Amino acid sequence: MGVKKDLSIDFLGVRCENPFFLSSSPVGSNYEMCAKALKTGWGGIYYKTTGIFVADECSPRFDNVSKEGKPWLGFKNMEQISDKPTALNFEYMKRLKQDFPEKVIVASIMGSNEDEWRQLAQMCEDAGVDLIEGNFSCPQMSSHAMGSDVGSSPDLVRKYSKAVSETTKIPFIAKMTPNITDMTVPAIAAIEGGSKGISAINTIKSITNIDLENMTGMPVVNGKSSISGYSGAAVKPVALRFVAQMLQNEKLKDVPISGIGGIETWRDALEFLLLGCRNLQVTTSIMQYGYRVVEDMKNGLMHWMDERGYDKLDDFIGLALGNIIPAEELNRDFKILPKFDYDKCVGCGRCYISCFDGGHQAIEWDTENRRPSLNDNCVGCHLCLNVCPVLDCITPGEIKWKENRPQVDVVYKKKYE
Ligand SMILES: Cc1cc2nc3c(=O)[nH]c(=O)nc-3n(C[C@H](O)[C@H](O)[C@H](O)COP(=O)(O)O)c2cc1C
Ligand code: SF4
Ligand code: SF4
Repeated sequence: MGVKKDLSIDFLGVRCENPFFLSSSPVGSNYEMCAKALKTGWGGIYYKTTGIFVADECSPRFDNVSKEGKPWLGFKNMEQISDKPTALNFEYMKRLKQDFPEKVIVASIMGSNEDEWRQLAQMCEDAGVDLIEGNFSCPQMSSHAMGSDVGSSPDLVRKYSKAVSETTKIPFIAKMTPNITDMTVPAIAAIEGGSKGISAINTIKSITNIDLENMTGMPVVNGKSSISGYSGAAVKPVALRFVAQMLQNEKLKDVPISGIGGIETWRDALEFLLLGCRNLQVTTSIMQYGYRVVEDMKNGLMHWMDERGYDKLDDFIGLALGNIIPAEELNRDFKILPKFDYDKCVGCGRCYISCFDGGHQAIEWDTENRRPSLNDNCVGCHLCLNVCPVLDCITPGEIKWKENRPQVDVVYKKKYE
């Protein structure tokens, strides 16, 4: 029998039946797509960004990065905001709200000046959407008055957040660009301007591959390419970092955050929740696998909650945040030596090679029996554990204290899945 848990959550005063939402992108760019997604079980949708500007797109516009035969480690797009008429998009959003009253409909908007932001906010109000997201973050707009150029200017983010918040009472969420060193700066500006929430991240400026045939980047558009947004699994670490930095900032710690970037599985989703996100958004994994990925996300999360004895999301949201600390506060008094399980070892020698060529020459190699053993050079870096292809073959072993350092109970990872 399937495990059932309550996944509902309040986000900016709006009840969401679950935290899983389409992020603003082609996965939610007309009525039919959004209706299908909502019927498949998504808690809500951030509709494809709509502006007064209607995009004129290039072809082709996608590329992906692979490693060792595994495609889609990261995904690049050169797409701008919606290429559909503005009024039609709002008409679709209005119908979606009427037909799916229990689901959450979020409009994503982007203006190029204060007037346009106000105009779009009014259209959101007329369409009856639940929330509005301000796209301050698309890195490939053909105009510098929109997108990540705006999002990296705190003054503009503040000004446009204010324009929207003065026009409508619908809560406004500012979507941040990761193409900046410190995201807390524009995020604080957004809140000062009247934004009630933050979403992060939009895509990262990138050149994914160089095409050897045409001597340009990928994708190739009439022999040329351009720097544009990177998403998918590869960007999750960057997204988690920005989320943590914002929620650890005194001025942002209570601001509801929607986490985005590389969510492909229930576990990815859980990681954003454990850092403190109250809402989650997904695009790339849907583009690769379809709307049904949400079923695995919901089931996996419910099973994990069941195993841990949690009844609701609020029981564990933010649990990991306090354990992310500055580098200078890490305990550097000990090293944990690796332990080898010779029954599991397949004798591949990768630990030996990596430790010698990329580490500390701390592994002796028994060529006859093809087995590693440790010498006194080991610094406990765990490169060997990271390269070993056999699960639980190399694990954390003995704890060694540096000379004259205080000994405490060490918390370390014992279970590798
Ligand atoms: C093809 C494509 C188009 C996108 N268009 C938009 C958009 O119109 N507005 C927006 O705010 N973000 C847009 N995004 C960014 C996504 O909403 C999301 O922030 C980003 O892809 C990271 O999430 P992911 O790793 O789940 O894809 C787009 C992403 C992709 C891949
Ligand atoms: S922990 Fe680091 S130094 Fe020690 S054996 Fe492994 S790779 Fe070598
Ligand atoms: S990497 Fe793992 S499996 Fe390969 S030799 Fe080392 S311990 Fe054995």
